[in-house]
Amino acid sequence: MEIRMFSLVLLLVMCSALLLEAQSWKDFKNKHILGTMTESNCTNVMNEKKLPGIGPYNSSCKERNTFIKATDKLVQNVCTGAGKPVGGNIYVSNFPFSVVTCKGNPNQTYPNCDYKGKEYMINITIGCKNNLPVHYHIVD
Ligand SMILES: *[C@@H]1O[C@H](CO)[C@@H](O)[C@H](O)[C@H]1NC(C)=O
Ligand SMILES: *[C@@H]1O[C@H](CO)[C@@H](O)[C@H](O)[C@H]1NC(C)=O
Ligand SMILES: *[C@@H]1O[C@H](CO)[C@@H](O)[C@H](O)[C@H]1NC(C)=O
Ligand SMILES: *[C@@H]1O[C@H](CO)[C@@H](O)[C@H](O)[C@H]1NC(C)=O
Repeated sequence: MEIRMFSLVLLLVMCSALLLEAQSWKDFKNKHILGTMTESNCTNVMNEKKLPGIGPYNSSCKERNTFIKATDKLVQNVCTGAGKPVGGNIYVSNFPFSVVTCKGNPNQTYPNCDYKGKEYMINITIGCKNNLPVHYHIVD
């Protein structure tokens, strides 16, 4: 019984470690911050980054991804004062950011994904952990 309990706890610890790994600041930065992003560069950037998509193929294109056109620091600040907490670990920025949303088709595969980009201004909504952004929340 004790051994079983121990195994369960170990499993839970391992799972949460995996979750943390999958939602790190490093991942967030790679997926969502690109100061030089432009609408017309979605196809280039997405085929280079090959962000995992959900689709019929192993290497299906990610259907949608948003890049914030700002420095790391400006986005981090949303977690530590430049954003308003709106419940849980979620923060909405106090001022708008320029973002580019890239939309593609999961029926296509990397590196042959076609993307359409759209740039707009939005007060970004992000999830923070230890004062660092770890999730980008899509608000339509
Ligand atoms: C577009 O993206 C590619 C790949 O990330 C990069 O090499 C290139 O410099 C970018 N072009 C512009 C105009 O930003
Ligand atoms: C599927 O993805 C795995 C890991 O990324 C890779 O090793 C494998 O070759 C891929 N299979 C196909 C059919 O593309
Ligand atoms: C969004 O940013 C504007 C400043 O441009 C600010 O006036 C507004 O309060 C912000 N909205 C929210 C929900 O934080
Ligand atoms: C992807 O393919 C499926 C099956 O052929 C189709 O139903 C779906 O509409 C396609 N999706 C897009 C975005 O083209």
